[in-house]
Amino acid sequence: MSAVRTRAIGVPLDRIDGPAKVRGIARYAYDQPVDNPAYLYPIEATIGTGRITAFDTSAANAEPGVLAVLTYQNAPRVASTADPELAILQSDAIAFRGQFIGGVVAESSEVARHAASLVRVEYEEQPGHYTMRSDGTDLYIPKVLNAGFTTDTVEGDVDATLAAAAVRLDATYTTPIEFANPIELNSAVATWNDDGLTVYCATQGVQMAQALLAPVFGFEPQRVRVISPHVGGGFGCRCFQYADVALAILAAKHLPSRPIKLALTRRQMFTQVGYRPSSTQRIQLGADASGRLTAIAHDTVQPTAKIKEFAEQTGVASRLMYAAPSRRTTHRVAALDVPPPNPLRGPGEAPGMFALESAIDEMALACGIDPIEFRIRNEPHVDPESSLPFSTRYLVRCLQEGAHRFGWEARNPVPRSRRENGWLVGIGVASSTYPTYLIPGNSATIRATPDGRYRVLIAASDIGTGAWTSLTQIAADALETEVDDIELQIGDSALPMAFMAGGSAGTASWGAAIIEAARALRERLDSEYGGLVPTNGLEVTSDPMKMADHAGPLPGSPFKEKYAMHAFGAQFAEVRVHADTGEVRVPRLLGMFDVGRMINPKLGRSQLLGGMTWGLSMALHEHGVRDPRFGHVVNNDFAAYHIAANADVGSIEVHWLDEEDPYSNPMGSKGIGELGIVGTAAAIANAVYHATGIRVRNLPITLDALLQ
Ligand code: MOS
Repeated sequence: MSAVRTRAIGVPLDRIDGPAKVRGIARYAYDQPVDNPAYLYPIEATIGTGRITAFDTSAANAEPGVLAVLTYQNAPRVASTADPELAILQSDAIAFRGQFIGGVVAESSEVARHAASLVRVEYEEQPGHYTMRSDGTDLYIPKVLNAGFTTDTVEGDVDATLAAAAVRLDATYTTPIEFANPIELNSAVATWNDDGLTVYCATQGVQMAQALLAPVFGFEPQRVRVISPHVGGGFGCRCFQYADVALAILAAKHLPSRPIKLALTRRQMFTQVGYRPSSTQRIQLGADASGRLTAIAHDTVQPTAKIKEFAEQTGVASRLMYAAPSRRTTHRVAALDVPPPNPLRGPGEAPGMFALESAIDEMALACGIDPIEFRIRNEPHVDPESSLPFSTRYLVRCLQEGAHRFGWEARNPVPRSRRENGWLVGIGVASSTYPTYLIPGNSATIRATPDGRYRVLIAASDIGTGAWTSLTQIAADALETEVDDIELQIGDSALPMAFMAGGSAGTASWGAAIIEAARALRERLDSEYGGLVPTNGLEVTSDPMKMADHAGPLPGSPFKEKYAMHAFGAQFAEVRVHADTGEVRVPRLLGMFDVGRMINPKLGRSQLLGGMTWGLSMALHEHGVRDPRFGHVVNNDFAAYHIAANADVGSIEVHWLDEEDPYSNPMGSKGIGELGIVGTAAAIANAVYHATGIRVRNLPITLDALLQ
């Protein structure tokens, strides 16, 4: 190792995998070459609730090229039905409309799809529960929220404090069903070999997919090898939901001589791979005459699925954002006969901060205080919930420096005060936050050779975020060498233990393991080889229990018990609302973020920019509409479910503070994958209010809400 310390971290390196992607040679799941594949097309239930009484598969079976028609009557039995979403084709029961009830395997994908359309199914329909009751009698308290958060928290006598407050706000906000919709369709290729089953699939975590799928089929985990070197987006829809992969494995068990290929259609993606559940959120705020918050109550209500509970942590950001002495958060769900919801980028924080940051804007106005000043006045000095100090919390600086860059000083505080050529113009602000996680139990192997090169192996995933590049940078930095000397291997469950690309925790957790492996390598080289790599090389695998216990200038974890760790940001929006038509345009967004040390500014900017773009999409466009008669989402394609496109987006500026977090992880970074979408929708809604004087509390903000 050279004496000159190379600082690979912080360099805006181009994507290492970029040329392969541009040339079309980077292999995504469905591209993986296998010998003589057969193609699978699913059959989906066309009723919402009930049971199958008869299948007629004769026409499908008679179609030339059809190899098998799978139904619950002939499909292989699974070993475990503990995950009802994965234990498909095991009975005649229908849990939601669109559930997989069969599949056709054929010599081509076209024949499989056509033959699937020939399968006749008879049902006995049963009454289903597809919409939440307005009287709330179907609500219950979930045991735990996503990511392990406590369902309810309470501090002080919230109702009494609210009642006594000089200024009070009581408002209800709603957000709709939203979908992940990554560009790569969820796909799977399942093939047998001597060691067991190899599955190529689009996943955010090769070992998460392995851990979830292997027990369903009664395999030891290592007998199901999951390979996923390149993934076209994730956003949460490839963490836990693998019904498509389970169907491919069932088909491979049924027809073991042929590798099975399956790619969902875009429409199937609206049913099979989860979604953000809609939310109804009541926020109550109390403040004293000087604009100091005395009480915050955030009570959320969301649907979940009867087949599998998922409870979003929608109120958790309200536990830490402001210094109100009395606080309450509650989460209630109702179980519907619908497909299971799941985490979607910024689960909890994204919808929750739309409500909270809209309410804070309303409260600032009610108190007659500038919304930035109001936030600063209510900035907590420690985490209000745990009383722990924050590792770092530069929210105030983000608000102030962002305001300066955006031109907030020129803002006339009076709503509906600026009109240009028929457009009402307004600007708004909101805060962002997302937890900073370091997931324990990650490990990396480093193989050093005397030519000064290193192979770095870890079962990480690159879902388009740039992990191929940022992990190479972290390795080069830890090994004090050039990035060209690093050869990274990721995306294979046979590699050393790694958490998935989820919770914005990938880079932190994998990077910490790589740094620990580099430390262990250096230690062995120094103690056994006089600091020189032996001629036949040296391989070291880091202890997954020691990943946080690294050497170096940063103390790193285990500081979880001593500090509250979160990323923060301030987002600013300029909107134009047409005075006659209500059309909303967003010419300008600016985000200023507190994300610790930036590993790769080019990739990091992309992450935050993408998040903000999606936040704009959440504010103005995205809206899954459920059919109350059958429980399915009717606008299940890109024609009817609009996602912000280039024409919807104006200028988006992304900035961050040049600050490290001394406690978050060995790199000093914070997760950035989800932070960018948190707060954008509130900044836009607050700007819409400033432009028009109309408070829109229901997303998306459509023009009908703005016509008086
Ligand atoms: Mo994220 S919603 O934890 O993939």
